[in-house]
Amino acid sequence: MLIQEKIKELLDLRAKARLGGGEKRIESQHNKGKYTARERIELLLDEGSFEEFDMFVTHREPSLEGQQFLTDGVVTGYGTIDGRMVYVFAQDFTVFGGSLSEMYAQKICKIMDKATKTGAPVIGLNDSGGARIQEGVKSLAGYAEVFERNILASGVVPQISAIFGPCAGGAVYSPALTDFIIMSKGTSNMFLTGPKVVKTVTGEDVTDEELGGAEVHATKSGVCHFAVDSEKDGILLIRKLVSYLPQNNLEEPPFVPNEDPVDRLDPVLNEIIPDNPAKPYDVKDVIHRIVDLGEFLEVHESFAPNIITGFARFNGTAVGIVANQPKYLAGVLDINSSRKAARFVRFCDAFNIPLVTLVDVPGFLPGTAQEYGGIILHGAKLLFAYGEATVPKVTVILRKAYGGAYDVMSSKHLRGDINYAWPTAEIAVMGPKGAAEIIYQKEVAAISDPAEKTAFLASKEEDYRNKFANPYIAANLGYIDDVIEPRNTRFRVIRALQSLATKKDTNLPKKHANIPL
Ligand code: HXC
Repeated sequence: MLIQEKIKELLDLRAKARLGGGEKRIESQHNKGKYTARERIELLLDEGSFEEFDMFVTHREPSLEGQQFLTDGVVTGYGTIDGRMVYVFAQDFTVFGGSLSEMYAQKICKIMDKATKTGAPVIGLNDSGGARIQEGVKSLAGYAEVFERNILASGVVPQISAIFGPCAGGAVYSPALTDFIIMSKGTSNMFLTGPKVVKTVTGEDVTDEELGGAEVHATKSGVCHFAVDSEKDGILLIRKLVSYLPQNNLEEPPFVPNEDPVDRLDPVLNEIIPDNPAKPYDVKDVIHRIVDLGEFLEVHESFAPNIITGFARFNGTAVGIVANQPKYLAGVLDINSSRKAARFVRFCDAFNIPLVTLVDVPGFLPGTAQEYGGIILHGAKLLFAYGEATVPKVTVILRKAYGGAYDVMSSKHLRGDINYAWPTAEIAVMGPKGAAEIIYQKEVAAISDPAEKTAFLASKEEDYRNKFANPYIAANLGYIDDVIEPRNTRFRVIRALQSLATKKDTNLPKKHANIPL
């Protein structure tokens, strides 16, 4: 064969591989409102940066002899996002429904091994019918090989999963082992057992969407961190998310300079806390006003909205923000908000992203539902996460910091580095009302006139508020480093982060901790 012929053969093979399962199946994919694996990669990576591996791989399953497709249903390789290296795999639904075979799993494992060796994030674009039925246990083994790599890469390189189609059975566990899950609304679902099995086992009638759609996982289960309107939105979101993250656990997050002045004062912040302590406000207004350019990438926006988590920058430095949200359930800590924030704090700590915590928390949510659901253990997760975190930790108490929740929310006593309070802070064992009712219960019981009783309690509540519900007792003890004017918050947080840029702290050597899971 002449060299030209050999080159033509190569180009023909490449063209064939690029067609995946063929034009008809590509058309069917488009008709479902979905992109193909290659189109997704093209959108995700910087133009022309994709380098593909294993284009010529096919399965080696005898029962599927004669049905060979180059790439075997998953497109793998590396490329860049804003010039920074990432590894990527995209499941190709046009080849056996994107189902996972032995060779397919090996392709994913190959890029994961390269990513962990070189210290680059792994992005998986999922769209698959699960284990390739014809390959049986070889496919199950392939999944487990991928799971093991997800586990070993956890905390070493960021791992991001987008779900742009079906994701069922044990296949959901690879995304579940990664750091972030993005789901496209209406075109993706995740469940362990599909609606038919659910109907047989429990008798429930449920649709794909109701059982495992993006909305369900973004609001109810918390499996999904970002529910997006379209695949394109999801892919752009991945690009944005990556911009806040370091390449690996040995690097710092990228510095992104911007024009927002370090010393920008915001007088609105001096008015943001309502005079009435029972009145809510939106802590996101505080976040937007203090961070660079008002830009905040919220994580888990629809799940447990009584706590807010997300990424922002202060003077170009990426931080993770955790903030109690008084606008929802008064910002109380419950099972879901504790789980949500604990996972976020641990992610930030694993990847050297400083934590800025804004506190306005009336305590833990009481009740049998919470106690039976294990709030003790779930609350302990957040406590554990903050207590073990060695990244810079800057805390600002805006208003309430009551009871155990004061301790949990990155307090000085959990190695909080710089702890500020606004003058509106109320740092106490409990709210003034509850405190007055408990301390004066005997006196109250002795008063028979209801009006007199109410007035007595109100005056005691006021006494308590004046005496304890302020930042100065904590500041007097050094638990609060300074009481700051709200309008200065941005400046003070930036200064605090700058002072902590060279922070070094470690935990005692151990195999691993035993976080209360
Ligand atoms: C082999 C599969 C397949 C699979 C789909 N296909 N799933 N081939 N193994 N798991 C093939 C179909 O035969 C079809 O081939 C093509 O992919 C497209 O599938 P359709 O059914 O036509 O598409 P659609 O109507 O969109 O339905 C998609 C689907 C459905 C919901 C994913 O195909 C489905 O339910 N598949 C089975 C899912 C499943 O039970 N998987 C095993 C789960 S258990 P042609 O040639 O017609 O294009 C599991 C265990 C993992 O995954 C354990 C890990 C620990």
